[in-house]
Amino acid sequence: MSRIQVPEVLRAATRAAIGPERTDAWIQAVPFIFNELFDRWTLRYDPVPGAPWAGCESLVVPVLTADSTPAVVRVAAPSTSPSQSHEQILEALRIWDGHGAVRVYREDTSFRATLQERLITATNLGTLPLEQVPAVWGALLRALTVPAANGFLRVQDIAAGWLAQGPAGPAALGPAVPLAPSDRYVFENAKHWARVAATSAENWLIHADLHYYNILAGNPDAHGVATWKAIDPQPLAGPTAYAVAPLLWNRLYDLPAAAPEDQAAWLRAFAQQVCQEAGVDPAFGLGLSVAREVQNLRWYARAAADGDARAAGDAARSLWVARALSGVSVQGADAHRLKRIG
Ligand SMILES: Nc1ncnc2c1ncn2[C@@H]1O[C@H](COP(=O)(O)OP(=O)(O)O)[C@@H](O)[C@H]1O
Ligand SMILES: [Mg+2]
Repeated sequence: MSRIQVPEVLRAATRAAIGPERTDAWIQAVPFIFNELFDRWTLRYDPVPGAPWAGCESLVVPVLTADSTPAVVRVAAPSTSPSQSHEQILEALRIWDGHGAVRVYREDTSFRATLQERLITATNLGTLPLEQVPAVWGALLRALTVPAANGFLRVQDIAAGWLAQGPAGPAALGPAVPLAPSDRYVFENAKHWARVAATSAENWLIHADLHYYNILAGNPDAHGVATWKAIDPQPLAGPTAYAVAPLLWNRLYDLPAAAPEDQAAWLRAFAQQVCQEAGVDPAFGLGLSVAREVQNLRWYARAAADGDARAAGDAARSLWVARALSGVSVQGADAHRLKRIG
């Protein structure tokens, strides 16, 4: 299996997570892992151009099953996340059972591996013009909105954790995050909606990382009809409003307006439309997105204070989104020039 090369994006992310020695040891074991899985599940490698694929957390290899069905084997790279998180991902995919999310054919928890249906890798939701996104994403969120089983981490508890922190503001965020007087309203807004989330009675299964690149086109049926499907879930239980934010903090470089305040107004209108299509109360969807971005802002501010040179750019992006969705001035910052995620 010497054909399987770990793409640089995954190698770099794994080195950052677990260090170079453990990363090298894992990379050396990758051919062994795939040989084992190919034998157990009777698979063969499918030499698709551009493969294998990867994100920051997993290696995805195209295969053919014994009856020549195209599929992929996804192996999660070693990480510092607790082992039950892989179990929860599998549990969520089992509950969705191929409806709105990728179908899992086989799983192996010791290698943190799954055999999944092959979707159309090149066609993620980022390839659609922004104007077409609300209807597609809204329908997908509706398909994913099923009651959660017990055992998932709850949005209510996450939000309660946010509220237990001290107030966000100049003292908490430090010099890497220059604030304007109107940002007081952003932080009040975040706190209000965190309180609403903490006491929400909603208990849906949530895909907490439902951004453009975790949504792939499915395979057309005999009539040529295909639906979009989610991959790579971070499952939680709670209100659906929590799922909206990753759609709003990606693709800021694409916002179809030139002046910063027009970009902010466009994002706000887009967010409202996304919520309407998805059956999420727009005030809650926007408000909880502000709360998530203020939480991100705290993490980035801490990372910047710890000497991470890129974190100030990430903080500026989170603050921009939180301001835009709160309806306060974005202080002349051009969305097209914000640091991209990753
Ligand atoms: N079922 C699939 N079919 C086709 N391509 C896939 C599939 N799952 C993942 N991919 C490709 O592999 C990449 C990484 O997979 P993903 O599960 O998102 O891992 P990560 O956690 O590293 O982001 C995706 O962005 C996509 O390009
Ligand atoms: Mg991904």
